[in-house]
Amino acid sequence: MSERLLLPSLATVTSVRPETLSGDVRTFQVEFDDPADAARFTYLPGQCAMVSVFGVGECMISIASSPTRLGPLEFAVKKVGMVTEAIHELEPGANLGVRGPYGNCFPAHNWLGQNLLFVAGGIGLAPLRSLVNYCLDKREDYGTIDLVYGARTPGDLCFRDELQEVWSKAPDTRVNLTVDRGDDTWAGPVGFVPAFLESLAPDPSGRIAVTCGPPIMIKLVLESLTRLGFPPERIITTLEMKMQCGVGKCGRCNVGAKYVCVDGPVFSLRDLEGLPEEF
Ligand SMILES: Cc1cc2nc3c(=O)[nH]c(=O)nc-3n(C[C@H](O)[C@H](O)[C@H](O)COP(=O)(O)OP(=O)(O)OC[C@H]3O[C@@H](n4cnc5c(N)ncnc54)[C@H](O)[C@@H]3O)c2cc1C
Ligand code: FES
Repeated sequence: MSERLLLPSLATVTSVRPETLSGDVRTFQVEFDDPADAARFTYLPGQCAMVSVFGVGECMISIASSPTRLGPLEFAVKKVGMVTEAIHELEPGANLGVRGPYGNCFPAHNWLGQNLLFVAGGIGLAPLRSLVNYCLDKREDYGTIDLVYGARTPGDLCFRDELQEVWSKAPDTRVNLTVDRGDDTWAGPVGFVPAFLESLAPDPSGRIAVTCGPPIMIKLVLESLTRLGFPPERIITTLEMKMQCGVGKCGRCNVGAKYVCVDGPVFSLRDLEGLPEEF
């Protein structure tokens, strides 16, 4: 096994940006201290990294930046417990460790000429953000791009500047937002992502659907996409939330005979057919 998967490389936080109004999600830009580590760390959308705060611990975080853009790695981190709280305390100039990248990637190279539908919920937009920006940077390779994204409240929508100022203004690209609960600032749709997706009724012909979010949302979105007529080989999801060690050692991620970290985390619904429904 490659050493870079087991040993963290030293890196420095270069900027911190709040994503949600409450600040429970922040995006960290991170640069490797050693240029050789930066050169070695090549990745594709859908991959993740183990981020460590020295003296506290480490956790798996999706890479939210796109490899089509030179510059720092970006991680959008939701504060939920000990390690993510310690990451949130990091300010520009602070050190952390990064190892990886782990997992397979979204097979965007197989989707040339296809229309794309991205369906995300909450912090699940982080790995899809990498993919959206990757596809927008190679715009001529793909057909229309539709994003369906939902969060609990308007203040919980991540990457709002990009959603409103960049993606919704990109050619042949539509951004469809929903929230579970509206407020005075919200004039858009209210409702859960799967029902909202079905109300939009995207045409499945010539289209690939990719979804990421909380496990219950993924399960219901997979059912919605199937009802809408998407064939299982054109429905792609990432089961990353089942991963822990990322290197096939802890046994936390198996679904039937598949190890999510070794065989995935990106799968088509066809790949998952016949497996126990525990994903
Ligand atoms: C492949 C992969 C990619 C991921 N990508 C991302 C990403 O891009 N961004 C991101 O933010 N996260 C991501 N995660 C999730 C992230 O790894 C976890 O949120 C992180 O490991 C939590 O670690 P922690 O020490 O902060 O929390 P822990 O202390 O381990 O807490 C974990 C869980 O326990 C609950 N908990 C914690 N404290 C309490 C308490 N006092 N009472 C009740 N419940 C509590 C939390 O709500 C949380 O659900 C990813 C996970 C995987 C496997
Ligand atoms: S995440 Fe540990 S074995 Fe797969």
